Amino acid sequence: MWAQAQPNIALVKYWGKSNIARNLPAVGSLSITLDGLYSRMSVEILDDPGADSLTVNGDENTELLARVSGCIDLITGNERGAARVRSETNFPVAAGLASSASAFAALVTATYECVGKTADTLTKARIAGSVSGSAARSLYGGFVELSAGVEDIDVWPIADAQDWPLKVVVAVTEPEPKPVSSGEAMIRGAETSPFYDSWVERQPEDLTAARTAVENRDFEQLAAVSEHNCLKMHTVMWTSRPPIVYWNSATLACMEAVRELQKKSEPVFFTIDAGPQLKAVCLPSAEETVRDTLAGIDGVVEIHSSGLGLGARVLEGS
Ligand code: DP6
Repeated sequence: MWAQAQPNIALVKYWGKSNIARNLPAVGSLSITLDGLYSRMSVEILDDPGADSLTVNGDENTELLARVSGCIDLITGNERGAARVRSETNFPVAAGLASSASAFAALVTATYECVGKTADTLTKARIAGSVSGSAARSLYGGFVELSAGVEDIDVWPIADAQDWPLKVVVAVTEPEPKPVSSGEAMIRGAETSPFYDSWVERQPEDLTAARTAVENRDFEQLAAVSEHNCLKMHTVMWTSRPPIVYWNSATLACMEAVRELQKKSEPVFFTIDAGPQLKAVCLPSAEETVRDTLAGIDGVVEIHSSGLGLGARVLEGS
């Protein structure tokens, strides 16, 4: 039995933790769940105790194993048999493409199914989010908002994928895993960036602007607030000590290309996460032009095009 979840791309970003031990985000966020990329997880719990194992696309993976085991424990308790976890993805892992989001959303869904327990989606989202903050949003499809409470997070869908079928073109400029994990980078930013406090303080106004833009299907407003929020997050990263710069020259070339398309009135904007890949969000009418333009840039090694999709689910009959 397999469960599947898709990555989500935040337009208003999660960056910073209010409680590191519980992995509670310091700010709310708003995202879109993709449909073209996926993580699939299969969990089997043996009768006998022993070491858990994890394979990703057929290869043994020890790096993610501790987080995977810990996540399963949150659902089953730790007095359990050894878990055999298999993961399949159709995109690069740990390269700023939200692979942990789809992986942990799928893992929580697969584990509940494996042990025959039920829970509502918010409960599952909270468990996934306690392992990787952005994973909470991949439990839901379409447009998703997450609010950072003091005790726990709340997550809910604000519009379905088909309500506003945006497209996302992902330009991969470096498929290798990133040097600093987002969790580590955001802790460093909170401790050392002089701009961190104002980042947190100003987040509610960006969330309101983005939510209103989604409600009104106002692409221009969504573009403006998303690019602004992304660049503010990267400002916190750049001004951390030591600094964290995830971009490379191809990332910048992609940004410039998006700016050129905007000058020609193409409905497109960019966002960039903790990695050098650029995500161009556009209306369907611009998808082909955006794709062709980004594919032609030196240093772009892969292009993925995607619509918006569903939340995490069990793949029936798998
Ligand atoms: C830049 O969810 O990977 O993608 O909670 O430490 O696992 P942890 O962080 P993670 O951070 C995602 C950061 C981001 C922005 C976002 O997705 O909102």
